[in-house]
Amino acid sequence: MINVIGLGYIGLPTALMLASHGVEVVGTDYNKELVATLNAGKTTFKEDGLDVLFQKALASGIKFTTEYQKTDIYIVSVPTPYDKFSKKVDAVYVNAAVKEIMKVAPKGATVVIESTVSPGTIDRYVRPIIEENGWVIGKDIHLVHAPERIIPGNMVYELLHNNRTIGADDKSVGEKVKAYYASFCQGEIVVTDIKTAEMTKVVENTFRAVNIAFANELAKICRHDDMDVYEIIKICNMHPRVNILTPGPGVGGHCISVDPWFLVGDYPSLTKVIGDSMAVNDSMPAFVLERIYTIMKENNMTDIRRVGLYGLTYKENVDDYRESPTLQLLECQEKHLAEPLKVYDPFITKDIVKNQYHNFDEFLKDVDLVVIMVGHNELKEQMNKLDGKLVLDTRKVCNFSNVYRL
Ligand SMILES: NC(=O)c1ccc[n+]([C@@H]2O[C@H](COP(=O)([O-])OP(=O)(O)OC[C@H]3O[C@@H](n4cnc5c(N)ncnc54)[C@H](O)[C@@H]3O)[C@@H](O)[C@H]2O)c1
Repeated sequence: MINVIGLGYIGLPTALMLASHGVEVVGTDYNKELVATLNAGKTTFKEDGLDVLFQKALASGIKFTTEYQKTDIYIVSVPTPYDKFSKKVDAVYVNAAVKEIMKVAPKGATVVIESTVSPGTIDRYVRPIIEENGWVIGKDIHLVHAPERIIPGNMVYELLHNNRTIGADDKSVGEKVKAYYASFCQGEIVVTDIKTAEMTKVVENTFRAVNIAFANELAKICRHDDMDVYEIIKICNMHPRVNILTPGPGVGGHCISVDPWFLVGDYPSLTKVIGDSMAVNDSMPAFVLERIYTIMKENNMTDIRRVGLYGLTYKENVDDYRESPTLQLLECQEKHLAEPLKVYDPFITKDIVKNQYHNFDEFLKDVDLVVIMVGHNELKEQMNKLDGKLVLDTRKVCNFSNVYRL
């Protein structure tokens, strides 16, 4: 039996996938409300294919509880934020989960850390917790790191098809864990050591962050000198070895806006490009705000209350709004003591910010300048409703001839 600890965006689909492929699974989360929702037969977030997978897993006997189980395999998928001051990984959730596991785990158990961590985290934080109990790693208990690469919005497909990395200092333990993941994963599964696996996951997200920052910086240069960044990127990308990403209003979510900081925190004198890239991405919401003020001025618009942000989530067609550019923009605006802008997002049904709307038409009635922060399908399908409005499109999803861009 596998006990999956942490049933959020990553832990839940992983637990469901294992269960629906014949593995006995108990999912544990310390959030009672979340466990009650799952036990009432409902999923806790929106994701294509998740409900079908959930029903399959229920039929296969998956259980959800707040209790840690006595079993031989644990998969830990709890949050790993970064410390805002030191920029290092904050392993507090991982540490707490491992301490709880140590209270119930039998000798011989394997603890798989799926949470993203910086290289050396498992050695620095997890090992001492186990050794404090007098247990010998590699004999009484085994440690594995199995980072996750799936993207919200396409999780079910990617769980099945992505290649994976398993880090284990004992190859036979790595192979044993690989067999569990291979029960559903059709991609290639590489087995390596723990520190290499830790580093590869952080490097992958850092690669994305640096490339996004490059596109964002180009947008700023082009805006400064009145050049069309999208046309320039389109032409550059016709070069056989150039592939520039599309600029955007910033970076959010629990991965690309977080994980690269781990390297900056751990290797401050060696991470100039990475640190600067993160700063460029973090500066984008303020850049969008500046664009809003410029566009208002150009159009003799004086009332900031007639400006509305479309989209609160960090990317299109998901309900995850953690660290989203819209939240960052509102925070930046708050610092200037400005009246918060109006906001609407079809994926966010509860009130999380001031001036939030839950109906697209009502939102549109109350604004003259619409700032597209997220390109949800809902908007793409109803773009005609923006006709007659001023539009600042930070995602390049609107093809009106008079649209404003980054
Ligand atoms: N969200 C993503 O797109 C994504 C993608 C790849 C990797 N990751 C990584 O996966 C990990 C989990 O991220 P997430 O997005 O699923 O987080 P999440 O916040 O959605 O879920 C974490 C869950 O863990 C629970 N939890 C926390 N501490 C616990 C404890 N001690 N015992 C039991 N339950 C506990 C929380 O209640 C929550 O439900 C992170 O390290 C993240 O970096 C996330």
